[in-house]
This record gives sequence, C-alpha cells and structure tokens, in this order.
Amino acid sequence: MKLNIGVIKGDGIGPEIVTEAMKVLDKVGEVYGHSCDYTQLLMGGASIDVNGVPLTDETVEAAQKCSAVLMGSIGGDAATSPWYQLEPSKRPEAGLLKIRKALNLFANLRPAVLYDELKGACPLKEEITEGGFDMMIMRELTGGLYFGERETKEIDGVMTACDSLTYNEDEIRRIAKRGFDIAMKRRKKVTSVDKANVLDSSRLWRKVVAEVAKDYPEVTLENMLVDNCAMQLVKDPKQFDVILTENMFGDILSDEASMVTGSIGMLASASLNETKFGLYEPSGGSAPDIAGKGIANPIATILSAAMMLRFSFDLDKEADAIERAVSKVLTDGYRTGDIMSEGKSKVGTAQMGDLICERICQ
Ligand code: IPM
Ligand code: MG
Repeated sequence: MKLNIGVIKGDGIGPEIVTEAMKVLDKVGEVYGHSCDYTQLLMGGASIDVNGVPLTDETVEAAQKCSAVLMGSIGGDAATSPWYQLEPSKRPEAGLLKIRKALNLFANLRPAVLYDELKGACPLKEEITEGGFDMMIMRELTGGLYFGERETKEIDGVMTACDSLTYNEDEIRRIAKRGFDIAMKRRKKVTSVDKANVLDSSRLWRKVVAEVAKDYPEVTLENMLVDNCAMQLVKDPKQFDVILTENMFGDILSDEASMVTGSIGMLASASLNETKFGLYEPSGGSAPDIAGKGIANPIATILSAAMMLRFSFDLDKEADAIERAVSKVLTDGYRTGDIMSEGKSKVGTAQMGDLICERICQ
C-alpha cells in the first residue's frame, strides 16, 4: 500500500522526533511491503520564518490532499523568541488552532498508559500504580474557550479581557458518540468531566452526554467535576477508562495524565474528524530548551505514527508492530533522559529511533 503522509516537522525538538518516527514508518514499510510518500508542510514558527504567517491556506490545502498528517511540535520560548513579538493571531500556536478548525479535527484522542517497565519514572507511590493503568482522554478540540469570541479592551479606564466558552448540542453529541464508540472497544466505562456546578456549558454537556449514553447500554457513564478529576488522576488513576471532556479541561488533564505515566515524552495523540483523515502528534510541546541536543524522547511521536497507521490506514498489524517494538526497547533497558532510572542504558533521540527500528518485525 502507498501511504500518502503529510509531515509537519515544526519547531524546537519537532524536526528531531519526527525524523525518528519517519525512520520507523519506513522500516514498517520495508517489513510489511508498504511505501511512504511524504509531503513536507510548514507550520508554526518554521512557517512564520518563511511565509510570515504560522499556516498558509495553501498548506491547509496540501494537508487536505494527504491521507494523514504526522506532526512534531510547534512554538518557541515565549520570553526570547521573536515569534512572540507578533500579535497573537500570527504566533506559532495560531497555526495549530487554524489547522484543527480548518480540517474539523474535533476529536482528540490521548492515550495515557503506564508501561510496566516505566514504573520507576512514575512520580506516584507504588501502591497507587500497582497493576498499571490505561486510560484514553477524549478531548473536544474545535470548540469551547479556544474558539470562542475574545476581546481585550478598556472599560471605564480599566483594561478588561474576555474569552467566551460556547458549546452547542451538536458539538457535544459528536464527541460524546466518539467517546462511547471507543469505550465499547475498551473497558466500557466513560467518565464525562465537566464543571456543571458552575458553568452553563457544562450543564448542557452533561445533559447531551446522558442522552448519547442511552444508545450505549453496555457502557457505564459516570459524571465527574473537573477539580475532582484532577485529584482522582493522582489518587487513583486505575479507575479511568475513557475520560470525555471539553477542550480546555482536556488540555489540562491530558498533561497531568501524561506526567503520571512517567513523562510527557511518552504520550501520543490523534486528532480526528468524521473521515479517515487525522493529524497525529505527540502531546508534549516543542521543548526549545533541549532542541537540537539530540536528547529528546521520540517515543510519543513514534506511538503517534502507530495511531496513524491504525486509524487512518486501518493497518492494525503494522501499528501493533510499532507498539511491540517500543515495549521491547523499554524491556531491554533503553531510556532517554526524561524516563531514565537507575541501572538503565541512557540513549539519545536517534539511537532510540534505531533501537525501535531494529525491533520491528512481523
Ligand atoms: C496541546 C497544546 C496546544 C493546546 C497549544 C500548543 C495551543 O498545549 O496540544 O495540548 O493548548 O491545545
Ligand atoms: Mg496542552
């Protein structure tokens, strides 16, 4: 099969980690008889440097022509990078928001799994992590605070800023359906997270999710307030199967969930629309402080490539092969700095990619 993949290497550690994921995809192609055809796309700071804007309409069109897009990360150090002298709508992050909206990528899947081999890197006590955990965060990605009206203006001589959080029932219903569909393939539990004791948008969220739940009698639905969820994630992460939540809560909770798995460098993500198309990226940022040093963990990007094979190309065996190779490399004791623990072998970004490639087999 010929895989038509768009590639956004992006900023910071992006180019390094995406290079490793491409290496792994090429190896999978070699072993399973596929060829990867890559189209390089510019987004974020890399696009500002060339085009003056973080994402051009031509790039959106080029992305649409691909079957899926693999992305590294975008953004720089806000304190020092000239990109942050620009107005907010021209900064790197605006490119990411634009592509999410333009391609209607409303469903963001962020799996947080505690690998047995990485228990040493997990900051939680052993009695909490006993038996591991495996949850899927389903974050709504094209609505809420990220895309509501916003304004900063002076009112009666006082600078005042406003961001608005809007959801309509259709937006809630489509992400809820995705959440329940995914739960059906997992342990059949959905925890819907909101702030219904305060927010109208959350009260509507809760009502619509309960309606959708009626079509999935096998799935247990639980509602949880977001502050409680933040606490439960460190107190008892095993209780979660699918966490279904709106954009901003999902942003925050997914970083927290990733940290309890040991490192954000392990967390893959897929952003999907109603078609087979998806944008696949590690959940972590561009980490400008370690960019170019060859020490970043490429595993989240490599696991994102596995999600791409699974969701956009229906290549489950090939995705399994990548996931198996990642587990194997961890069992064999190799670690990048962020997940390093005593007695293990420390390796850099490229070496980690090579070690994973060596373990790709039928
Ligand atoms: C993420 C990131 C982005 C977000 C930023 C870079 C705009 O934190 O994908 O979680 O907030 O969605
Ligand atoms: Mg985030």
